[in-house]
Amino acid sequence: MNHPTMQGMAPVNAPAWVKHPKLVAWVAEIAALTKPDNIYWCDGSQEEYDRLCEQMVAAGTMKRLNPARRKNSFLALSDPSDVARVEDRTFICAERQEDAGPTNNWTAPAEMRQTLNGLFDGCMRGRTLYVVPFSMGPLGSPIAHIGVELSDSPYVAVNMRIMTRMGRAVYDVLGHDGEFVPCVHTVGKPLAAGEKDVPWPCNPTKYIVHFPETREIWSFGSGYGGNALLGKKCFALRIASTMGRDEGWLAEHMLILGVTSPEGKKYHVAAAFPSACGKTNFAMLIPPKGFEGWQVTTIGDDIAWIKPGQDGRLYAINPEAGFFGVAPGTSEKTNYNAMATLRENVIFTNVALTDDGDVWWEGMTKEAPAHLIDWQGKDWTPEIAKETGAKAAHPNSRFTAPASQCPSIDESWDNPAGVPIDAFIFGGRRSTTVPLVTEARNWTEGVYMAATMGSETTAAAAGQQGVVRRDPFAMLPFCGYNMSDYFGHWLALGQKLEAAGAKLPKIYCVNWFRKDADGNFVWPGFGDNMRVLSWMIDRVEGKGQGAEHVFGTTPRYEDLNWDGVAFSPAQFEQVTSIDRDAWREELALHDALFTQLNHRLPQALAETRAALGKRLEG
Ligand code: OXD
Ligand code: MN
Repeated sequence: MNHPTMQGMAPVNAPAWVKHPKLVAWVAEIAALTKPDNIYWCDGSQEEYDRLCEQMVAAGTMKRLNPARRKNSFLALSDPSDVARVEDRTFICAERQEDAGPTNNWTAPAEMRQTLNGLFDGCMRGRTLYVVPFSMGPLGSPIAHIGVELSDSPYVAVNMRIMTRMGRAVYDVLGHDGEFVPCVHTVGKPLAAGEKDVPWPCNPTKYIVHFPETREIWSFGSGYGGNALLGKKCFALRIASTMGRDEGWLAEHMLILGVTSPEGKKYHVAAAFPSACGKTNFAMLIPPKGFEGWQVTTIGDDIAWIKPGQDGRLYAINPEAGFFGVAPGTSEKTNYNAMATLRENVIFTNVALTDDGDVWWEGMTKEAPAHLIDWQGKDWTPEIAKETGAKAAHPNSRFTAPASQCPSIDESWDNPAGVPIDAFIFGGRRSTTVPLVTEARNWTEGVYMAATMGSETTAAAAGQQGVVRRDPFAMLPFCGYNMSDYFGHWLALGQKLEAAGAKLPKIYCVNWFRKDADGNFVWPGFGDNMRVLSWMIDRVEGKGQGAEHVFGTTPRYEDLNWDGVAFSPAQFEQVTSIDRDAWREELALHDALFTQLNHRLPQALAETRAALGKRLEG
């Protein structure tokens, strides 16, 4: 199907397998604006992936790793200024500012469109526009949705092939007039005739823009994952959360895992943690000694789409098809399954290169290699690091790897029907105050806990690290609409399901990160989180015991299985104690959040706050 194009413009040349006139017209329209030299329709084949990777190797964007060490794998080093999500440049352009709410940046859509028209005019000159069709979720699943990303970055095209179901089959699902979310991305660096490209083009000016009412995404100036792979945060969280609000479902920043007991009974848990707080590790947990017969399987490590099923239960899919995980800290010890996933077919970004053509990052091995090329392409040795503090890998360096390669992948991870959720977990990174685990008394108190969650900031987003900020539901940077309305949506969904007689998932709040007076983590974490997980499963079964306190129920020392680990009651006290003064301060921070979100804050949350305050003083 050919669309008429203006003189001098790249021909649209849609392949015969694209049968969607509106889509073709939209590609022509964006091409007329962005003025690429060529338009290339991705088919998602292995041959295409190999060819694009080879082209990037020739252009200097990626380096092929030593195939004897890591087969079919590549390393990309970004521009040093383009290493993380840019939350201050991320906009939710709803028609009314109050629909974006006080936690999102907002500009009136008409004004933003004018800005974008200026920025995108001719932004792809000298480049190829890649048409990247993708399904978020198993093709044709009733929980899945489709997007098409137009990008001038081949790095985006190949990463999208790993992270989503990308390629020709998407057009079969779309048919002649199927719905898709249009996503436009540019690195924002047009090339003049004959100008040589840089290895990682980007632009100091960045805009990550969402129009929730028209369900569009426009991204300018960055090639980094969360800003550029538009299926992920932009679509699967910001736009999808808005779709969920309108259609009665949930799009969440959650991993999904399966737990099978020694008796062979299977449970499913979805867990929300802020970026770089161990979601990938938790999703791939290996039960420790003392938990023989238990099995944990991975469905997703970052995002869950959750819709009510016919039986009133909540069913979740992982909309993604790959892992875009944080590399530093990942090792055979901390996450064996991730390391096994990374043996081949991986794209690494901003990690260090070893002298034998493999990759390394802080925490991968106990001892660092004697020499590396760091993420900025410079020589690195342990001595240089000692002197200058230079990191070999950027703290937010990443791997992009196919989910199917994970040894712990769940047999249902690709099931279009999804998996039924038994429990939700919400966790932040808190050195103090928040206990190891608390079960909420009911749905409303669980929503309160999730809404008031705080966490210390990490390198996943540009900006200061290590400061506690409220991160409701771990969705602060990802909610595509007014956060108060989002709380209301969770409360209403719970009410609706309960009224229909459904058994709601239990809700837990966890904190793996309490520290002692010397600044050391007290809880061993990683595989030992199984001890907490199995207690939750016992509670789901109505068997697990615990002590009731101000905020809900927490296990006593004797309620957890300590087989295979030396963890004393005194240490347990350190990770579970409730310091009333610290909690008075914490509740004051809840108040500050609720003041910020006052405009449409559900009454039930204010009431819960009042009841907790009373119990704390009681
Ligand atoms: C991610 C993030 O990349 O949360 O998953 O930043
Ligand atoms: Mn994430």
